[in-house]
Amino acid sequence: MLNPAVAITDAREAVGPQPVGIAVVGLGYWGPNLLRVLGDNLDAEVRWICDLDTERLGKYRRRHPEARVTTRIARVLADPAVDAVIIATPVHTHYHLADQALRAGKHVFVEKPLAPSTELADDLAALATQRGRILMCGHTFLYSPPVRAVKRMIEAGTLGDIFFISSSRVNLGLHQRDVSVIWDLGPHDFSILVYWLSELPTAMRAVGRDSIVKGIADVAFVTMSFASGIVVNVELSWLAPSKLRRTVLVGSERMVIYDDGAPEPVRLFDRGVVYRDPETFGEYHLSYRSGDVISPRIDTYEPLSLELGDFVSAIRTGEQMRFHTAVARSVVRMVEAADRSLREGGREVSLEDDGIVHQLTSRRELAAI
Ligand SMILES: NC(=O)c1ccc[n+]([C@@H]2O[C@H](COP(=O)([O-])OP(=O)(O)OC[C@H]3O[C@@H](n4cnc5c(N)ncnc54)[C@H](O)[C@@H]3O)[C@@H](O)[C@H]2O)c1
Repeated sequence: MLNPAVAITDAREAVGPQPVGIAVVGLGYWGPNLLRVLGDNLDAEVRWICDLDTERLGKYRRRHPEARVTTRIARVLADPAVDAVIIATPVHTHYHLADQALRAGKHVFVEKPLAPSTELADDLAALATQRGRILMCGHTFLYSPPVRAVKRMIEAGTLGDIFFISSSRVNLGLHQRDVSVIWDLGPHDFSILVYWLSELPTAMRAVGRDSIVKGIADVAFVTMSFASGIVVNVELSWLAPSKLRRTVLVGSERMVIYDDGAPEPVRLFDRGVVYRDPETFGEYHLSYRSGDVISPRIDTYEPLSLELGDFVSAIRTGEQMRFHTAVARSVVRMVEAADRSLREGGREVSLEDDGIVHQLTSRRELAAI
């Protein structure tokens, strides 16, 4: 484990007026999206593409003749024209590749989750700080317009006190070979929750099963409780008849349905229950309120483009991305806790407050970073 206290430097050498030189490592399902978005960023230039699979390299070499291609990351890291490395490889490779890239003096964007354990996530964060390099983890949903719209509603108090949140992220596939569905899909919901609530759960539980491939859970039901009283349920699955990415937030004043991909992705319901104290012993009254349903206008920009734009701009300005690191680390802690609970038959796993929450609450608006 690195000692974060040693040789911390905030000073970064300016990259200069040329575009930021980028290498993209991993061209499976997700990497090509990153490559495409980088093509639209005038401030970035893809100098290398790297994958172990030569067929994939051949395909993207034709589309990106300006980039050099290799199966060996060592060649990428040895090139001084590469300022930053973007890693979109399987989860079990993230730590090793990011560590190598930071040690070679490169800025690093690594797809979610940041690392396979909190300890290794901390190692990477400390190494980045020590070397004065940007380390960012790809939590794309933090840049999603509907997710940000819901965040604004929460911050404005539109929902009142949030009672509970229930979320489903299910689809048929893609089965991952190296990690459970919690490590694969969990980071999306967990990062959204941390962003919305600026709070980490105090305890998590998960049950699930490995329906298809022995030892790799393909369905999980994760529950969490927060110190504020909010309870959350997240359903994650690669086994479902149709794709669903839907979150319901129930508050004391209003309720929200966030349905990713729907024509109206955010709907605000002026609905709730009013409880009146009993006038005589035992006679409380409930009345059900059902008012307007509002579908706010939602921006249409591409989250990935904004996310990589932030990464490139942080390299330019040398701005620390502490909120991002805090979210990425919190997500790894939550995934770790949920995965442990799943493996231990649904036992409750506590998350001690280790100070990270302060970094989340001190930066309540991602947009303000
Ligand atoms: N942000 C999002 O919305 C989002 C969506 C999907 C996937 N992802 C993330 O993207 C990453 C990749 O997922 P995927 O579904 O594209 O996986 P994938 O298995 O389809 O592709 C991974 C690619 O990495 C290559 N690879 C593996 N080890 C390598 C190494 N050492 N050096 C170079 N290349 C190597 C493989 O050959 C393969 O082409 C994962 O971390 C996943 O969590 C993010």
